[in-house]
Amino acid sequence: MSGRIRIALIGVGNSACSLVQGIGYYGEDDSRMGLWHKSVGGYRVSDVKVVEAFDIDGRKVGLDLSEAIFSKPNVARRHFDVDTIGVKVKRGFLYDELSHHLRGSFDIRDEDPSEMVSALRSSRADILVNLISSGLDRTSKAYAEIAIKSGCCFVNATPSLIASDEHFVKRFKEANLVVVGDDLMSQFGGTAFHKGILDFMHSRGIKITKSYQLDVGGGNETLNTLDEGVKFTKRGMKTKAISIELPYEFETVAGTTDYVDYMLNDRTSYYWIQGESFLASPIKVDIYLRTSDGPNAGNVLLDIIRAVKATKDKRSFGAPLEICGYGFKHTSKSVGLRDAYRDFALKYVK
Ligand SMILES: NC(=O)c1ccc[n+]([C@@H]2O[C@H](COP(=O)([O-])OP(=O)(O)OC[C@H]3O[C@@H](n4cnc5c(N)ncnc54)[C@H](O)[C@@H]3O)[C@@H](O)[C@H]2O)c1
Repeated sequence: MSGRIRIALIGVGNSACSLVQGIGYYGEDDSRMGLWHKSVGGYRVSDVKVVEAFDIDGRKVGLDLSEAIFSKPNVARRHFDVDTIGVKVKRGFLYDELSHHLRGSFDIRDEDPSEMVSALRSSRADILVNLISSGLDRTSKAYAEIAIKSGCCFVNATPSLIASDEHFVKRFKEANLVVVGDDLMSQFGGTAFHKGILDFMHSRGIKITKSYQLDVGGGNETLNTLDEGVKFTKRGMKTKAISIELPYEFETVAGTTDYVDYMLNDRTSYYWIQGESFLASPIKVDIYLRTSDGPNAGNVLLDIIRAVKATKDKRSFGAPLEICGYGFKHTSKSVGLRDAYRDFALKYVK
């Protein structure tokens, strides 16, 4: 690992587990199957190095990151044996009430935030990647503040509003830093697939009238999403991300509906789409998609991390729409899937 991009992870859960495995696996050889983009903004995967990691779960705190990523309650699959990294997971902090679904599953150890600033400064982290459980808005915002204080760019994978909040964007810009978010959009997850099918039907002249997407999965984050508050927020974001895909209004609903523990890190998304074609003849689509959450985040996270560093290298700051539109569901301006990918690729993919 060349360490040209030094990242710190907050939240050593299932997405972090897949990301860390991906950094090791493709860092060794980026001609291996499954990597979407070899070079982003002139950076290879081997340029990415994890220099700090934080969590509040006592079963992970104190362990080397290579061990913590496979510790309970993580359920992401082991694809690659990660060598000892030499980064011990430190304690993060918690400013919110945990949802009652998570309360029983964490062994909480939290810390004074000032320790985190000095750790980030001394490890010379470039980017803080926020992968904590959703619904912890005060905590995610406090981590964004820590990023500003420590001189780190910020990647917000959670649905808390940070990169789509003007106030935060201004503060990151003034500090000559980049902030991107909010709510990661998986590479080939429920939202991207739903948007892609709608775009295809629209491009073939079908008038969409209604659609829904119901997700069922395992993993702690799905369990957490069953909490009414979190469910409502995430459903609102997913639904909005879908509705902007078409240039007219139609009825749509998208969200997680249930948790099945033995599905582990897998997810099934059930879709139903209704449209009309010539002479108002009905078209109905009924499909399901099976994916795995952690790996589905890996390519997009690696692309975002490299693009953020490349943006900062060029002394461009704030929240670039080319990265936010490509990698996240909730952005300050609406962008369709096709345009978002085109803009990202034009700027960053060689
Ligand atoms: N494909 C994807 O995985 C995907 C897609 C979209 C959004 N996201 C978002 O990414 C985030 C992570 O998802 P995940 O599946 O890895 O979740 P997860 O539940 O597997 O992991 C979350 C981790 O965060 C830790 N954590 C919780 N509160 C913390 C705090 N205050 N400080 C430090 N650590 C804390 C937990 O202990 C756990 O290790 C979630 O917000 C999720 O909504 C993920």
